[in-house]
Amino acid sequence: MQCWQGARLATLAGDRGWGLIDDGALLVDDAGRLCWVGPRAEVPAADAVVDLGGALVTPGLVDCHTHLVYGGNRANEFEMRLHGATYAEIAQAGGGIKSTVAATRAASEADLLTAARRRVRALMAEGVTTVEVKSGYGLDAATEARMLRVARALAHEPLQVRTTYLAAHALPPEATSADAYVDAVCAWLPELHQAGLVDAVDAFCEHIAFSPAQVARVFDAARALGLPVKLHAEQLSDQGGAALAARYGALSCDHLEFLSADGVAALAAAGTVAVLLPGAYYALRETQLPPLQALRDAGVPLALATDHNPGSSPTLSPLLMLNMACVLFRMTPEEALRGMTVNGARALGLRDRGQLVAGQRADFCVWDVGHPRELAASFGHNPLIHRVYEGRIQGG
Ligand code: NIG
Ligand code: FE
Repeated sequence: MQCWQGARLATLAGDRGWGLIDDGALLVDDAGRLCWVGPRAEVPAADAVVDLGGALVTPGLVDCHTHLVYGGNRANEFEMRLHGATYAEIAQAGGGIKSTVAATRAASEADLLTAARRRVRALMAEGVTTVEVKSGYGLDAATEARMLRVARALAHEPLQVRTTYLAAHALPPEATSADAYVDAVCAWLPELHQAGLVDAVDAFCEHIAFSPAQVARVFDAARALGLPVKLHAEQLSDQGGAALAARYGALSCDHLEFLSADGVAALAAAGTVAVLLPGAYYALRETQLPPLQALRDAGVPLALATDHNPGSSPTLSPLLMLNMACVLFRMTPEEALRGMTVNGARALGLRDRGQLVAGQRADFCVWDVGHPRELAASFGHNPLIHRVYEGRIQGG
């Protein structure tokens, strides 16, 4: 048993508040779990002691929505948008997701892994201890499988990886119709699941992607295998996707700028997490804000993620997302940090992380700040001192 002490703890215990413990201590057992959390004055004896010199400790960050396995980049589209093209126009002209699909299909598994590893290490350098990784740039059976294998291989790093099957992300160029492609998406899933490559199933419900009826067929295929679902919903328009996902008991609905009052009520009733993605909102210069106050009033749990991808959100900075969530969406710093810890975990169906509480995983961050609100207030600066994964200091 190991004792980490001499730190201010932001435990995030309970449903609200920072859960601050000044001059706190954490006991970690040999299995890499927290077995005691409280004031140093009351800590039971331990075999070894690490003094944290007055730093701040938070739970490890959970980035619950990324697309970080892909080939190529789309900085050219950044320039096109600066010249007035919209994300939807670029997508409809064959750019966007489809251009990343071409680059991903052309990349070897080793090259995809090298690039993805570099990205995940950047996330880890800012305190990420659990990351979700989606497929969705293959759009054929072989490349979707390759992406998911690469995502699984990232777990050789000291972090936890959850994989999400997102073949219903865009229509591939060879598809004869959206409905025929959805049939294929459903048909590929059992084998990928059998191979242990899929933790959840996602889709992009949008006028430039798939209709609610098509998404429902993908969700039926997931349900038949007992897999949980999530949805890219109401990003560019209100398609009623959130209400559909809620009917399937979705873990999360993500983006949500165009979410209606009915959609908010549906999420609340289903206990579905709302994942807000300020990086995409910012990069696409969106002006429609997600209905934060309505989500709050309805008691919908709020999560926050990087949405790292080469098009709409090419960021590898979870700390910047904390700041953007506050400045752009008016989340509080506490909501933002909960969004990237305990509620991010919940958006992945994980209840064993995200708070500094006995019984949880000993994944935590040691920061050179005095108060957790400083993590959201500053930007372009990384105050991480240590990233502790399963009770061990691990570099980013
Ligand atoms: O979450 N909205 C759809 N999917 C991604 C973007 C993917 C891309 O542009 O490559 C997102 O923003
Ligand atoms: Fe996304």
